[in-house]
Amino acid sequence: MTGTVKIGSSQVTSTPLGLGTNKVGGHNLFDGLKDENGAAVVKTALDDGIGLLDTAYMYGLGRSEEIIGDVIQDYDRSQFVIASKAAQDPDNNLQPNNDPKFLKQSVDDALKRLKTDYIDIFYIHFPDTTTPKAEAVNALVEEKKAGKIKAIGVSNFSLDQIKEANEDDQVDVVEDNYSLVHRNAERNLFPYLKEHDISFVPYLPLAMGLLTGKYTRNDQNQFNQFTSDQYTSIMDALDTVKEIADKHDATIAQIILAWYITDPDISVVIPGARVADQVHSNAKALGIELSGYEFDQINHLFDQF
Ligand SMILES: NC(=O)c1ccc[n+]([C@@H]2O[C@H](COP(=O)([O-])OP(=O)(O)OC[C@H]3O[C@@H](n4cnc5c(N)ncnc54)[C@H](OP(=O)(O)O)[C@@H]3O)[C@@H](O)[C@H]2O)c1
Repeated sequence: MTGTVKIGSSQVTSTPLGLGTNKVGGHNLFDGLKDENGAAVVKTALDDGIGLLDTAYMYGLGRSEEIIGDVIQDYDRSQFVIASKAAQDPDNNLQPNNDPKFLKQSVDDALKRLKTDYIDIFYIHFPDTTTPKAEAVNALVEEKKAGKIKAIGVSNFSLDQIKEANEDDQVDVVEDNYSLVHRNAERNLFPYLKEHDISFVPYLPLAMGLLTGKYTRNDQNQFNQFTSDQYTSIMDALDTVKEIADKHDATIAQIILAWYITDPDISVVIPGARVADQVHSNAKALGIELSGYEFDQINHLFDQF
């Protein structure tokens, strides 16, 4: 299996492929989800050697964590990493709350739902507008000292907010929107993160399924964030990715995931899944070795983004 990656300057290590779980119990975010499919998604990930589960209070208002908590009782806890997040305050219309007391209570609540005694990575899911960032992070430093969490993350923070949060060099990992068709983080965040030994975990790495190749040239209405020229160039690029995939006897999604796994600027890639078959297929990305030429070729195919 592809080697492990270290999360910032923490003691946490992970496989470079994780599982995004917003469709595991995330009934408040997506229609038509079934808890039993969610449980099968998590089980398949762990059975197939995917060593990080990325969840959050926000995914089902605790339901995703509960489903994961049930499944992991049958697995060796030392063999995988759990990342969870909090900020949305149920007592204030799910508005972001980074108050130290709220964050500490959120860690305790997540531990109960996950039925575990530590969470490997805990992220502040969104910044609020009032709490000084270093104060919010310090609440998590105390949770780390208490052994309840092992690494500290922030998500959806701007560069300035990350700098403020990392005033005392305590941030281990940043999670933000990034994919081959949404590459702003390369310019905005990567230089600071590299300089400060902070890992980067991209979310929406498959651009919500677009980068699996399952959408056609007629489906642009489902991806309004792209102009029609951009959408056409994504479709053209995916045709070339398909040629590379055929050479590896792989799928487009597997090749795209292998690209992230190969990129040293990306720590753990966490594609989501609705059903177990998707996870089973995506897990095979761990066994794909792209040549340097293929890596560069895919990089250039999407360089306008
Ligand atoms: N920190 C944050 O604020 C934040 C925000 C968003 C997400 N996240 C995290 O990041 C994770 C990844 O993002 P995401 O799940 O929203 O988007 P994504 O990884 O870009 O896309 C995942 C979706 O693509 C489809 N898919 C996956 N594998 C496939 C395959 N092999 N073949 C065909 N379709 C496939 C599935 O959707 P369908 O089957 O429904 O098409 C799946 O739910 C989330 O699960 C969550 O853990 C974090």
